[in-house]
Amino acid sequence: MEIATSGQELRRMTKALKRPMVLVPTMGALHAGHLALIAKAREVAGPHGTTAVSIFVNPIQFDRASDLAAYPRPLEDDLRACEAAGADLVFAPDAASMYAPDRSVTVTESLLSRGLCGAARPGHFDGVCTVVLKLFLLSGCEAAVFGEKDFQQLAVIRRMVRDLDLPVEIVAHPTVREPDGLAMSSRNVRLSPEQRAAAPAIRRALLQVAETSSTAAEACATARAIIEASGHARIDYLEMVDAETLQPVERVTSPALLAAAVFYGDVRLIDHIRIEP
Ligand code: PAF
Repeated sequence: MEIATSGQELRRMTKALKRPMVLVPTMGALHAGHLALIAKAREVAGPHGTTAVSIFVNPIQFDRASDLAAYPRPLEDDLRACEAAGADLVFAPDAASMYAPDRSVTVTESLLSRGLCGAARPGHFDGVCTVVLKLFLLSGCEAAVFGEKDFQQLAVIRRMVRDLDLPVEIVAHPTVREPDGLAMSSRNVRLSPEQRAAAPAIRRALLQVAETSSTAAEACATARAIIEASGHARIDYLEMVDAETLQPVERVTSPALLAAAVFYGDVRLIDHIRIEP
């Protein structure tokens, strides 16, 4: 497995690599969910293609300095995990090599990124779009794999690819969960034992309302009650949105998503469920 630590080095290496190249963009602290994305990338790349993983804790997508500072960075473990998962190349730059001190260009998606996490975390999706575009350009990948857990990120990236005519196929992979239903996230390791025990309530709540609720107001009230009853939780948002436009809906007349963002202490977790009419 090859390792590049700057954009220049990556560009040089990728010239010699076999195509197609399939990229898995990550911020590291890899867990089984990431390994599933790498396995998917291997499958898409085929026996002769290249699977690349980027590991970069992107400072410009964090809205809270404390979250950026606390984000886990176990690089040695991550490199071992990438190698074991069959990655051919890892791109692990530092912030100084990705961003000039006087950088002044940002990529903005201005519709799908407005609500949900975009409203709760100002500037977050500008940071995501900017770094993902840079990763696509530096790697020259033909395809990239993203997890469906971050469904708004996936929708925003798909829109960026469509609107900027980027020659990159976006491949989605279903959310990978712990046995108790908690969506896997690099932030889970920061939960205290009590918070970790309470957090599966998010999934339980979403499953229950998907079965029983008819209106968005009813669904959000029921989910809120279940999550709050399990303790330690502060709800950032609970919202029902159209699955395509991500605009709020009052009832399910076409496929919808019930999306949740919940703080356990300083740790913010997200999850969602699809609801069919
Ligand atoms: O989903 C993530 O881990 C990040 O938002 C991404 C896509 C790697 C961009 O920094």
